[in-house]
Amino acid sequence: MTTTPASTPPRPATVRLTQFAHGGGCACKIPPGELEEVVAGLTAPPLTGGDTPLLVGLATGDDAAVVAHRGTALVCTADFFTPVVDDAYDWGRIAAANALSDVYAMGGRPVLAVNLLAWPRDRLPFELAREVLRGGLDIATEAGCHVGGGHSVDDPEPKYGMAVTGIADPGRLLRNDAGRPGLPLSLTKPLGTGVLNNRHKVTGERFEHAVATMAALNREASEAALAAGAECATDVTGFGFLGHLHKLARASGVTAVVDTAAVPYLDGAREAVRDGYVSGGTRRNLEWVAPYTDFGHTDTDTRLLLADAQTSGGLLVAGEVPGAPVVGELVPRGTHSLVLG
Ligand code: CO
Ligand code: CO
Repeated sequence: MTTTPASTPPRPATVRLTQFAHGGGCACKIPPGELEEVVAGLTAPPLTGGDTPLLVGLATGDDAAVVAHRGTALVCTADFFTPVVDDAYDWGRIAAANALSDVYAMGGRPVLAVNLLAWPRDRLPFELAREVLRGGLDIATEAGCHVGGGHSVDDPEPKYGMAVTGIADPGRLLRNDAGRPGLPLSLTKPLGTGVLNNRHKVTGERFEHAVATMAALNREASEAALAAGAECATDVTGFGFLGHLHKLARASGVTAVVDTAAVPYLDGAREAVRDGYVSGGTRRNLEWVAPYTDFGHTDTDTRLLLADAQTSGGLLVAGEVPGAPVVGELVPRGTHSLVLG
């Protein structure tokens, strides 16, 4: 943490933004088990008589909420987090790609985003906030999504993200509860952003390949999944590959069998686990899925990598996606939600 007096904010070039974050990116999420207890039972009775029926709500813990209106599905989501990398522009790009991802994970196309910004105005220069917002704008523009305004607050800890509205074909959504036995599982980005971001935060080492994958849109993956006829997908973020796969398997009433040897990792991810750069969020993810998982002979480091809290991860699709590795399959529901082989 900085010791710079409030009257003289540090020079932008010297700031390491990750040092202002108590947690790391999607690892700063509230743990999945705790969150489910908080929201349990908080579903409103179905609204009647309206022209916007709810297609996807809280019940299945999907990536975004969806209502139908006049033949179109409106997809609504919000996502924001603390700095995952030191560079302001890259953080902005990553946070925007991550927020847009939940629309792609539902089979939608993002059309309008608003910024969500928390900024310690007496400790960090606004010049850096501008860089964060510029990164977000560039990624939204790449996605063909408008950015209109937003909301900002003074906060001791910087946070950035977006609330995003997308549109989709109501008959062609990618839901997390539509998985069926016999479908292969495809993963469109390698794992390991959590441990690499953690290493970056601790040591200052830069991992450009991790930044590139986090800032990459899931647009092509979503379009490819839809073109291949997929009906079930989710994106891999803070709860890790195992956490999001468990949610998908549970919502779909199936068991997911993982071919651990086929799961792709970013260069340096395994070394980062070996060297101890594992976040508390990743350990909580692993604890959360453990009662529902048959780990077989999977070693500890691989378990941690599979549970690694991802930032702006890829799509996990029930179906084959051209160019993406098949990392397992769905089978009829057995004793466990997840089986690692
Ligand atoms: Co998601
Ligand atoms: Co999200």
